[in-house]
Amino acid sequence: MSNEVKYQTTLENVDWQHMKSTLAADCFDNGRTPRQLRESFKNSYATVIAYADERIIGTARVLSDGICNAYIVDVWTLTKYRRRGIATTMIKMLLAKLEGQHVYLFTDDAIEFYEQLGFKPQPIGLALVVGQWLRGNA
Ligand SMILES: CC(C)(COP(=O)(O)OP(=O)(O)OC[C@H]1O[C@@H](n2cnc3c(N)ncnc32)[C@H](O)[C@@H]1OP(=O)(O)O)[C@@H](O)C(=O)NCCC(=O)NCCS
Repeated sequence: MSNEVKYQTTLENVDWQHMKSTLAADCFDNGRTPRQLRESFKNSYATVIAYADERIIGTARVLSDGICNAYIVDVWTLTKYRRRGIATTMIKMLLAKLEGQHVYLFTDDAIEFYEQLGFKPQPIGLALVVGQWLRGNA
């Protein structure tokens, strides 16, 4: 396992099929096709993709209006690379682009991870899927 991790903030040369299969193998696939993955990253305010040995081993991205509200999603580190500070680095890279903004996110079980970054619980989040999941126009 390589010790060198590279963090890419552009979407040049991203292999979306590779991202999809890596997420699926690591049980973090939410059903997007490679094209839907590409569109969702492309339409984000900022993205980070972590690589080791040319393989994708981490992702994080943020949606934002660029002024006051941001929402962090797709935070993931490949299982065998966890607890090495990779997700912390990715989130800090995103937060550096969000000065002055309220940053929200939802998590089931990564509360301690976000708390060590300074996040605090802010209830209550409400959610609604409009129509059928992933059956929009994109
Ligand atoms: C949550 C996740 C992104 C953390 O990635 P990571 O690269 O391992 O995180 P880091 O190494 O930067 O963790 C930094 C600190 O966060 C805390 N932390 C991270 N994972 C934790 C866990 N499973 N349980 C408790 N604390 C945790 C620890 O304080 C850790 O520091 P330490 O390793 O020195 O104890 C990763 O476990 C993951 O991909 N999980 C599955 C997907 C997921 O739940 N994503 C979040 C969706 S909102």
